[in-house]
Amino acid sequence: MTRGLPNYGDPGFSLFLRKAFIKGAGYTDDALDRTVVGIVNTGSGFNPCHGNMPQLIEAVKRGVMLAGGLPVDFPTISLHESFSNPTSMYLRNLMSMDTEEMIKALPLDAVVLIGGCDKTVPAQLMGAASAGIPAIQLVTGSMLTGGHRGERVGACTDCRAFWGLYRGNEIDDAEISEVNSNLVGSVGTCSVMGTASTMAGIAEAMGIALPGSATPPAVTADRMRIAEQTGTRAVGIARERLTVDKILTESSFENALRVLLALGGSTNGIVHLAAVAGRLGFDLDLDTFDQLGRETPVLVNLKPAGTDYMEDLHRAGGIPMLLDRLRDLLDLDALTITGRTLGEELDAIDTSFDQEVVRPRENPIYPAGSIAVLRGNLAPAGAIIKQAAATAELLEHTGRAVVFENSADMATRIDSDDLDVRADDVLVLKNIGPTGAPGMPEAGYIPIPKKLARQGVKDMVRISDGRMSGTARGTIVLHVSPESAVGGPLAYVRDGDTIRLSVADRVLALEVSDDELTRRAEDQPATRPETPARGYRKLFVDEVTQAEHGADFRFLQAESKRGSVPRTR
Ligand code: FES
Repeated sequence: MTRGLPNYGDPGFSLFLRKAFIKGAGYTDDALDRTVVGIVNTGSGFNPCHGNMPQLIEAVKRGVMLAGGLPVDFPTISLHESFSNPTSMYLRNLMSMDTEEMIKALPLDAVVLIGGCDKTVPAQLMGAASAGIPAIQLVTGSMLTGGHRGERVGACTDCRAFWGLYRGNEIDDAEISEVNSNLVGSVGTCSVMGTASTMAGIAEAMGIALPGSATPPAVTADRMRIAEQTGTRAVGIARERLTVDKILTESSFENALRVLLALGGSTNGIVHLAAVAGRLGFDLDLDTFDQLGRETPVLVNLKPAGTDYMEDLHRAGGIPMLLDRLRDLLDLDALTITGRTLGEELDAIDTSFDQEVVRPRENPIYPAGSIAVLRGNLAPAGAIIKQAAATAELLEHTGRAVVFENSADMATRIDSDDLDVRADDVLVLKNIGPTGAPGMPEAGYIPIPKKLARQGVKDMVRISDGRMSGTARGTIVLHVSPESAVGGPLAYVRDGDTIRLSVADRVLALEVSDDELTRRAEDQPATRPETPARGYRKLFVDEVTQAEHGADFRFLQAESKRGSVPRTR
């Protein structure tokens, strides 16, 4: 209770006042003298992914008190994907600032970060990394799957699949309405290997969350036991002063990137890891990440790359089962939040039982390179593609560009019967990058034009400077950098240009000469969106970085550089 006293001129008086106020809530001096564990409460009526927050907080508090500490919960911003206009990514940095500043403002010896929905875990890790106190992550856990006419369904790979059928007139209004009620079986995060599941797995692999904590579904007894254990361990890390920087090291970032690849995880995980690493002074080296990918198979059979759901992964042994299969690719000396190394934790688990969700190394879901990094004159600072969720025949493709200048232009024309588009064209969407939209929305999943969808076209090569949901599938090139709004070459693509995608060669090329591109840039230079006059939007547009730097704000990154991750191999 003596940490971070407000300044009333006399520290003794400041403490006296603080204790007087909190005693108004019925606390004794004995309670106030204990190790104080803050619990970040991100419950919100608008966030069903965090709908189990009251039960989780109760269980964490029980764990803290069993260890002799004093638990106190406090709120921060909560972000849900569908309730964060214009996009949750626009608000992620704000949530990270809220988390950092509240952690620093309150008299905490340690903090339990409870998050789950896509941007919340990255925001909490970014904030905690900058705040620098002992912190432990607890995720809310995945939702249960639902059922539709005998088929198991879950958010949100199946959301997109059914919507595609509806757009192609393969199912009618009544059925799509029925599906809408069945996709989400309970509170909790999306049940496939989308961004929330990816970040949960990454947090566990990095050692900032307890072993086995990523996969128990939100409404299960396992989830509540994990919450209790997290509370108990929070008291331990407070007493040991096990601060975030001791856990989030080069080793743990490398392990996280490996696991991202082996999960067939969300491309968003790359942006978020770049942002968290940036808070600790590490740059994300995309080319070394690509090398890592070439050695790392996808082993987890979850949608969208595979067929199963998070609850299946939990029954199959969860992240520890995966880590055990990747042992030789991991840095087993990385310290975890338990105070033991990753290797010591893996030695303590039994992975000898039969299961079919986490494949053996010799029988992967996808052999290597689930996410590939592309370079070329269209993406000098890089772009990425999740080839594990793409159409194999389209990974080597040359086609005619059909260009949309921004999301509004796309919305107006994509379904027009007059749109000049063929199945072998390349759809290009500009101005959805970090600055352009702003907020780098998940609009990179450009829909198949209705006239082609009706002909049965399910996939096309699509390119943008935006992101896509981790739950989506398709031959989709994302995070093109520099983005079009700041004058990246993407800004100068025109209808009818030829674009070559070669994932084998890691190339994204616009087959237009440098001279012609220079001429186009001089004739019609890219224009940054007008800087708003005030508020968070002004801060965002002024300060946001490009995708490879995590789309974090410049002034939130670490003041000095410590190196890059993954380390050069
Ligand atoms: Fe919250 Fe998918 S919408 S995890």
